[in-house]
Amino acid sequence: MATSKGKNETVTLIDNISGKRVDLPVLNGTIGPKVIDIRRLYAETGFFTYDPGYTATGSTESRITYIDGDKGVLLHRGYAIEDLAEKSDFMEVCYLLLKGELPTKEQKTRFEHDISRHTMVHEQLNFFFRGFRRDAHPMAIMCGVVGALSAFYHDSTDITDPRQRMIASYRLVAKMPTIAAMAYKYSIGQPFMYPRNDLKFAENFLYMMFGVPCEEYKVNPVLAKAMDRIFILHADHEQNASTSTVRMAGSTGANPFACIAAGIASLWGPAHGGANEAVLKMLGEIGDKKHIKAYLARVKDKKDGTMLMGFGHRVYKNYDPRAKVMQKTCYEVLDALKIKNEPLLDLAMELEQIALNDNYFVDRKLYPNVDFYSGIILKAMGFPTSMFTVLFAVARTVGWISQWSELIDDKEQKIGRPRQLYTGAEPRKFVPISKRT
Ligand code: CMC
Repeated sequence: MATSKGKNETVTLIDNISGKRVDLPVLNGTIGPKVIDIRRLYAETGFFTYDPGYTATGSTESRITYIDGDKGVLLHRGYAIEDLAEKSDFMEVCYLLLKGELPTKEQKTRFEHDISRHTMVHEQLNFFFRGFRRDAHPMAIMCGVVGALSAFYHDSTDITDPRQRMIASYRLVAKMPTIAAMAYKYSIGQPFMYPRNDLKFAENFLYMMFGVPCEEYKVNPVLAKAMDRIFILHADHEQNASTSTVRMAGSTGANPFACIAAGIASLWGPAHGGANEAVLKMLGEIGDKKHIKAYLARVKDKKDGTMLMGFGHRVYKNYDPRAKVMQKTCYEVLDALKIKNEPLLDLAMELEQIALNDNYFVDRKLYPNVDFYSGIILKAMGFPTSMFTVLFAVARTVGWISQWSELIDDKEQKIGRPRQLYTGAEPRKFVPISKRT
C-alpha cells in the first residue's frame, strides 16, 4: 500500500571504494519526515543497513497514529490526543483506531453493545488461574492467560477471514479488563466478579476490580472518568516496542491472541510499559525531597546505571503530550478522593522541576513521559503497583489489534526478518574434543 506523493525524488548512495551508485526512491507520507526506500539496496549493492533499536528505520506504512516528537504532538487518525482525552471517551477512541473514523451516534451505540457482549471469558478459563502461584506478577498471568485465549476461541483465529479478525479484535478489547481484574482478584484471594454489561467500559473495569459479590459497589464517577482518560492516553503509540512485537508476530501469520500475548510480554519491561511501576518504586526509594539531588547524581553517573524512570522517550524530545493530560487528571483524582496532601505527588513535582532545570536532562531533551504521573493516580485510585502495567496492557490492546489488522490488510507486508552485522568467528575447522587444548 505504499503511497508516494513525491515527484520521483531519489537519494543517491555512492560506494566511495567501488564508485558504484544506486538511486533509492524517496517516499512521502501525509506528514512527517520523508523515507528512503531501501528495499532494493541489498540486491543492487550487497550492503545491509545497520540500525540497532531502529532509531532511523520505518518498519511499516501506517495510517493509525502520528507522532511529532520534537513538537510533542500525538495524533490518532488525525485527531489530537488532547482533544480525544478531553472531548471523547475510550470506546469512541477504540472505534476510531479500529475503523479509521469517529463513530456516528448509532455506530457508537452498536459498537458499545457489541463489545459489551464479549466481556465474559469462557468459564473453563477461570480454572487456569489456579495454576498460578498467588504471588505471581499479574503481568505473568496476563501473558499466559491471553495467549491461552487462542485455545478457546477457535472460531476467530482464521486470519484470512475479515469477519473472524473483527470478532477476535472485539473479543480482545472486551475481555482484557475481565482477565486483568481476575488476575488481581486471584492475587488477593477474592472471588472473580463477572462483568456487568449495563456499565460503561471503564466503570465495569473498576467494578470488577474493587467490587465484591456480597455487597453493592458504586463506582465513583470521577474515578471512572479518570480511568477512561487513562485508557485513552495509552490506547496507541505508533510503532513502539510492544506494537512492533505484535506486528512481528503477526507477520508470521500467528493468530491474533498469540500476537497480543507477545505484545504483553514486550510491554512488561521497565523501559516500556513497566516504567509506571518503576516510577513509584523510584519515588519510594528517594523517599524525601531532600534526597532528590543525591538520586539525580546517581542518575547522571553513567557507571551507576540508574535511570530517572518516567523520563525520556525515543521519539519525544519535548514534553510528552500525554504527560500533561496525566498531570491534570492526577489533580482531579486527588481532589475527588479528598486527598489534600499526597507526598508522592509533591516529591514527583519537585523531582520534575529539578530535572527540567538540570543540564544533563536539558542537553539530552529528557522530559516527563506518560508514566511519570500515571502511577500516582493509579495508587490513589487503589491499584497496587503490580497492576500498573496491566492497565497499560488493557488500554493498549486496541492499538495493538488495530495495528495488527492493518498489517494483515497490507499487501506489501512480508514476514519480519531483520539481518545483522556479523562479528563472530570466521569459518574454521572442527577440532575433535580429544585434540582441543
Ligand atoms: N534517565 C537518565 N538518562 C536517560 C534517561 C533517563 N530516564 N533516558 C535517556 N537517558 C540518557 C541516555 O543515557 C543517553 O545518554 P548519553 O547520550 O549520555 O548516552 C541519552 O539520554 C539518550 O537516551 P537513549 O538511551 O539514546 O534513548 P532511547 O531512545 O534509547 O531510550 C527510553 C528511551 C524511554 C528507553 C529511555 O529514555 C528510558 O529508559 N527512560 C526511562 C524508562 C521510561 O520512563 N520508559 C517509559 C517510556 S514512555 C511509555 C512507553 O513507551 O512505554
